[in-house]
Amino acid sequence: MKAATIARYGSAGVIEVRNVPAPVPGPNEVLVRVHAATVNRTDCGELRFPALIRLLNGGWRSRRTILGMDFAGIIEAVGAAVSMFKPGDRVFGMCPSRNDGAQAEYFCMPETGPMAHMPSNLRFDQAVVCEGAFYANPAIEHFGLKPGHKILIYGASGAIGTAALQLAKYRGAEVTAVVAGRHLGLARSLGADLAVDYATDAFDQLGRHFDFVMDAVGKLGIRRWRRLLKPGGVFSTTDLGPWSQNLFFLLSSKITGSGRVVVPLAKRGTGQAFVNDLKDKIEAGRFVPVIDRRYPLAAIADAYRYVQTGEKAGVVVIDIVTEGRLAEPG
Ligand SMILES: NC(=O)c1ccc[n+]([C@@H]2O[C@H](COP(=O)([O-])OP(=O)(O)OC[C@H]3O[C@@H](n4cnc5c(N)ncnc54)[C@H](OP(=O)(O)O)[C@@H]3O)[C@@H](O)[C@H]2O)c1
Repeated sequence: MKAATIARYGSAGVIEVRNVPAPVPGPNEVLVRVHAATVNRTDCGELRFPALIRLLNGGWRSRRTILGMDFAGIIEAVGAAVSMFKPGDRVFGMCPSRNDGAQAEYFCMPETGPMAHMPSNLRFDQAVVCEGAFYANPAIEHFGLKPGHKILIYGASGAIGTAALQLAKYRGAEVTAVVAGRHLGLARSLGADLAVDYATDAFDQLGRHFDFVMDAVGKLGIRRWRRLLKPGGVFSTTDLGPWSQNLFFLLSSKITGSGRVVVPLAKRGTGQAFVNDLKDKIEAGRFVPVIDRRYPLAAIADAYRYVQTGEKAGVVVIDIVTEGRLAEPG
């Protein structure tokens, strides 16, 4: 099979698309024929091999040589003990990071992993949208968002930001989205009650009336979020920030017990329930994919370069199979 392989960590230039043996599913695994995948910030982080990833993987080499988290495709074969999926099922989800990933024609994953049957209203290349929602959801859950709450989402144009916006609207909160001027229309189309350009100072002057501020890109300084939060309000971030300063605020919040700064993570083992829930939201028209660019597998290094700019809106798709796409929904 063809796969985007990495022999060592580094820049996008280390990625090589080549033929490798297709994996064979274990007893509890399914083999997926990938139709579409993505390149996201998690892949870029792993490729660059930051200290944290190095620690997690326990060595200078990754345990895996193929990256890629989001996927949509068709089950090709199943292991002897698999009962929930069968060959021919159309599925989407996220490949666990301990397995070789989805930037390939085939990959294997446990049947109990973060995977569900495809939403009936999407094509494969539209269904590679789980990762952003997966990382946005813990903050939305932690806040316990409900009608009457006011939330400001900073950086509501990326994969996590566009998902957070939609998940917050789903729960009936009033959402202010802070984005670049070029993304104001996108934020409004996703349901933002107010969209503000971060290049102006307008959002600094909105006042201390937000129950929650969520920084979806890790770029909002403390002086700004403090100016926006109500007394008792909570700040959440998806990134430690350019000087890892959010780690300090998180620790002091824990030590003082104020709970003012949080970095909620998804609970282990909740992935499959999460993907099933996202499928329901997609089919109900309450969560729509935001697709930026698409690249063929052969040009995946260019996709990495683009994602590394930090300028993408939503998701960057890698097309693995394009034949027959016109016959699909959407
Ligand atoms: N907690 C976790 O487990 C986890 C997992 C994955 C990712 N992350 C982190 O979460 C962050 C977001 O990830 P993502 O995948 O959503 O990123 P992304 O899709 O690459 O986000 C890019 C978006 O952010 C916007 N942006 C860039 N600079 C901005 C600024 N100063 N103010 C407001 N918006 C800005 C960009 O728009 P413009 O270029 O037009 O400004 C672009 O639309 C990343 O820092 C990533 O490392 C955390």
